[in-house]
Amino acid sequence: MSQPVPVPNGLPMERDAGPFDPPRDITRLREARPVSPMLFPDGHEGWLVTGYDAVRQIMADTRFSSRQDIGVVHVPYETPGMPVATQPSPVLPGVFIAMDPPDHTRLRRRLTGAFTVRRMKQLEEHIVDVVERQLDEMARLTPSVDLVKEFALPVPSLVICELLGVPYADRETFQVNSAKFMVKDQTLEEKMAAYNALNTYLCELVTRKRAAPGDDILSDLARQDDLTIEELTGAAFLLLLAGHETTANMLSLGTFALLEHPEQLAVLRANPELMPGAVEELLRYLSVADIFYRYATEDLELCGETIAKGSTVVVSLLAANRDPERFDNPDALDIHRKARGHLSFGHGIHQCLGQQLARIEMRAGFDGLLRRFPTLELAVPADEVRLRTDMNIYGVHELPVTWTESAR
Ligand code: HEM
Repeated sequence: MSQPVPVPNGLPMERDAGPFDPPRDITRLREARPVSPMLFPDGHEGWLVTGYDAVRQIMADTRFSSRQDIGVVHVPYETPGMPVATQPSPVLPGVFIAMDPPDHTRLRRRLTGAFTVRRMKQLEEHIVDVVERQLDEMARLTPSVDLVKEFALPVPSLVICELLGVPYADRETFQVNSAKFMVKDQTLEEKMAAYNALNTYLCELVTRKRAAPGDDILSDLARQDDLTIEELTGAAFLLLLAGHETTANMLSLGTFALLEHPEQLAVLRANPELMPGAVEELLRYLSVADIFYRYATEDLELCGETIAKGSTVVVSLLAANRDPERFDNPDALDIHRKARGHLSFGHGIHQCLGQQLARIEMRAGFDGLLRRFPTLELAVPADEVRLRTDMNIYGVHELPVTWTESAR
């Protein structure tokens, strides 16, 4: 095996090729060796996987364990007190994104019925209402406004709160704390403090639901006696976080990308029926949930490389979605492209449970925004938009926008 690529401070993260493109080092690695040995900051060796085929293969193969991160809280191995690199981190009860079968299967099965295409279709009209109400409020403001605060964050938060039965009025608690462990270089103490605050809140909530269940997904789970309160709390934590952070960043970064590609935006405005395809392309092009961790449970062959048992394997969905072996002219945003087959919702047994919900929210969100604000534009130069390179889910911190007219 050739020398591992030294990565002194974690993964290359600087968006040196532009706000929507992978870091140049990541692209270079994919071209040179799509399954690349890499050194972690603590000195242990692992792999960085950037090629489409290899990433897809890993996500389809449960011998690559998901017991690598504590849910969305990526615990860095160099943190004192954590297990050594060849052991998976402890798994939080209920947080099934970080579990393998059969534990993963047992928990995920309880929720699949709640997130089917049919169930989500039934919600569509309601989601359109949520979007329109939020846009009414935004239209009453005097621009410029921050699109993240006024639109992109409230829409998925309102929807997931209602679905789960979490009071929207309590959003300060979960938005502030969930944002805290999305910060990459937060200390373990800070992450744990945020986690504990959210955990306490959700534990009280699911305990109340167990005593007096209502008409929502968490109540449906709480009715199932064989799930413990800890498992209910963990599942609530996962759904609440996964349900708003990702979609919110897609809505805001997607708007930024469209405003920066005026010719694509004009075609989409003139042909709203292209929206479903445009959403798939934005998912591919932006890949806001980029980095995922796996752990080899045995010696495995991958694209000609031997991955030793115990290795940490890092996949970049963004790099895979920009692989020229899979997508022609991959760095171009092209709303006419057949982008299905992208890996932005993952692949295999952990493939995103909320993908139909996210699609409906994005179609309704972009559709409403473009229709109601035909003159929407950035209120600051593009290079002044603050990018979330410091966060686990990519996007923008704020998106100042302005307009000269709005419509009903
Ligand atoms: C899993 C992306 C929206 C709930 C995943 C995974 C990805 C992803 C890449 C796979 C993780 C892995 O393999 O380790 C996204 C993106 C979204 C989105 C890009 C928005 C555009 C949502 C929404 C929900 C949700 C709205 C609502 C509840 C979940 C859950 C899992 C998951 C529960 C874990 C599934 C499992 O482990 O079986 N998501 N997601 N996601 N997502 Fe999403």
